[in-house]
Amino acid sequence: MQPLIIAAILGFFVVYSTIRIFMNKWYFVPEGGYLTPLYSPCLSDSCVEGSSHFGTPFGEFPRWLPLGLAAFPIVAGFRVTCYYYRKAYYRSFWMSPPACAVAEPHKKYTGETRFPLIFQNSHRYFFYLAAVVLAINLYDAVHAHIEDGQFQAGLGNVVIWINWLMLAGYTLSCHACRHVVGGRLKHFSKHPVRYRFWTFVSKLNARHGFYAMTSLVTVIATDAYIMATSAGWFDDPRFIN
Ligand code: FES
Repeated sequence: MQPLIIAAILGFFVVYSTIRIFMNKWYFVPEGGYLTPLYSPCLSDSCVEGSSHFGTPFGEFPRWLPLGLAAFPIVAGFRVTCYYYRKAYYRSFWMSPPACAVAEPHKKYTGETRFPLIFQNSHRYFFYLAAVVLAINLYDAVHAHIEDGQFQAGLGNVVIWINWLMLAGYTLSCHACRHVVGGRLKHFSKHPVRYRFWTFVSKLNARHGFYAMTSLVTVIATDAYIMATSAGWFDDPRFIN
């Protein structure tokens, strides 16, 4: 059952996000300043007014080109090469093998030592780039509270913050992050600061699967909320205007 459930969740995410990134509309709510994470950063002249927090270096995009092109390949690559997701989709989609202690169905098994799976070793580089995207998402979350120099807050801000916290949990609990902060050290006692970070990341790392799946759901929920608000299907409740 577990591979089936995971396959259903991952399959839904792939279909949903593919539709959404090619939609090129309903990704920004000017009143609340909400920008969906699937389109952030929006760097084209084609982005709706107010949604380009980092300028528009790319000029106009043709209608078919996703506006979230700058970050989407990074976050997709980060998830596809993630150790947790590898386990999930090797078992759920490829059945190779479907579980521990179940015989590998292929006659010859080269694992991740040959093309194309050797590409999975790029995960640490995706981690560095994903950390930059996480910082951009943080900027978006803070930016959504400011309108004409005044602080504002609505239900959308709460949704965005929950999503950011889950994304932060997912990114910081990454195995590559754990290695960056505390890997290749012979003596933790000589590196007390890195040891503290490593201890913190190790605790998060134990829950990496939880953050991986939860952040997937919160990204979809945040995008769906912003799409519904932007399209006028739903009025965003405001707490502070
Ligand atoms: Fe999952 Fe790095 S191992 S994000």
